[in-house]
Amino acid sequence: MGRAKKVVLAYSGGVDTSVCIPYLKEEWGVEEVITLAADLGQGDELEPVKQKALKSGASESLVIDVKETFIKDYAFPAICANALYENRYPLGTSLARPLIAKILVEAAIKYSADAIAHGCTGKGNDQVRFDVSTTALNPNLKILAPAREWGMSREETIAYGERFGIPAPVKKSSPYSIDKNLLGRSIEAGILEDPATEPPEEIYEMTLAIADTPSEPEYIEIGFTRGIPTTINGQPKNPVELIEELNKKAGNHGIGRIDMIENRLVGIKSREIYEAPAMTVLIQAHRDLESLTLTADVTHYKRGIEETYSQLVYNGLWYSPLKTALDAFIQQTQERVSGTVKLKLFKGNATIVGRWSDNSLYTPDLATYGAEDQFDHKAAEGFIYVWGLPTRIWAQNNS
Ligand code: ARG
Repeated sequence: MGRAKKVVLAYSGGVDTSVCIPYLKEEWGVEEVITLAADLGQGDELEPVKQKALKSGASESLVIDVKETFIKDYAFPAICANALYENRYPLGTSLARPLIAKILVEAAIKYSADAIAHGCTGKGNDQVRFDVSTTALNPNLKILAPAREWGMSREETIAYGERFGIPAPVKKSSPYSIDKNLLGRSIEAGILEDPATEPPEEIYEMTLAIADTPSEPEYIEIGFTRGIPTTINGQPKNPVELIEELNKKAGNHGIGRIDMIENRLVGIKSREIYEAPAMTVLIQAHRDLESLTLTADVTHYKRGIEETYSQLVYNGLWYSPLKTALDAFIQQTQERVSGTVKLKLFKGNATIVGRWSDNSLYTPDLATYGAEDQFDHKAAEGFIYVWGLPTRIWAQNNS
């Protein structure tokens, strides 16, 4: 009796997930492996991926296009939360995992499988995201993670695969580990493991080097409706189009490269390079529109919520009661976050140069230093007396 009878395996077409297919069957006694490749806009041809799974011994090979759901239900809420892990990483990889887990669980139910499986190793964050998301969605499903246990080196993995007709990678495979989707690319390993070394230009795909970006700035206007980006330069865009177009525009000006040492949930510090042109620009613009439309106390309080939200997402708790509660708070704050932000894209920077909204709380009559000023200057004196009173009393007692 194997560990499971029928398994739905998260499949990318790479050597590791391909080797998982015969491994699950031969070593762990699984009778049937169904693979599932999610189309998250990673730009890979998915028909060959589908065929490769079948050749590697899968009984069924599913490809599911989840691009629109990914942007609408995962990326847009993260933008409303201005979600940046450790203040920098817009969570492109982290946001994809709970969605993949969701479709794995759905497929497991549809095909009456008793387990899901993935090819993550034991050192990363992704295993946590897959496992915890799966448990949250269906606590009865088993979770198999062969690569966490098999202890094979890269060479051994390739050799194992060859025994089952899985070809070794043809071109000398890239020294980097790369995860990509519509929200960007995450690049690690190889020489990037030395945090003192500058990343070579060859690792980038979505962003131009500053030396190659246009010598003229480009102005764009992004329109938001209740926190959700909906237009570019006044043109309505569907969610996927909007992200694709902003990736192109911002990437063309070299915007959205991030080089950071980050703290993984499993206790390891890692050096990761990200390219996330659209998300970088969108979070910047969204935050700016909030500064125009939210009251000071909501803006300040929300900062703390955003920090917690980003950690939850990074740490695999997308489907959790705290995340649901924070979502409710964030959604409530977005009621008035509609309007337009104008940005200047130039030489690696997106600079906000203007913003306007029908819900603007900016009050010219109060803000102006000109003759139209309506602010009651004398009222400030009494306010400051009361505001400063505790400090005055403290100072008198300390002098
Ligand atoms: N560090 C990022 C995260 O945990 C990305 C992980 C995947 N990175 C990769 N290069 N394969 O979300």
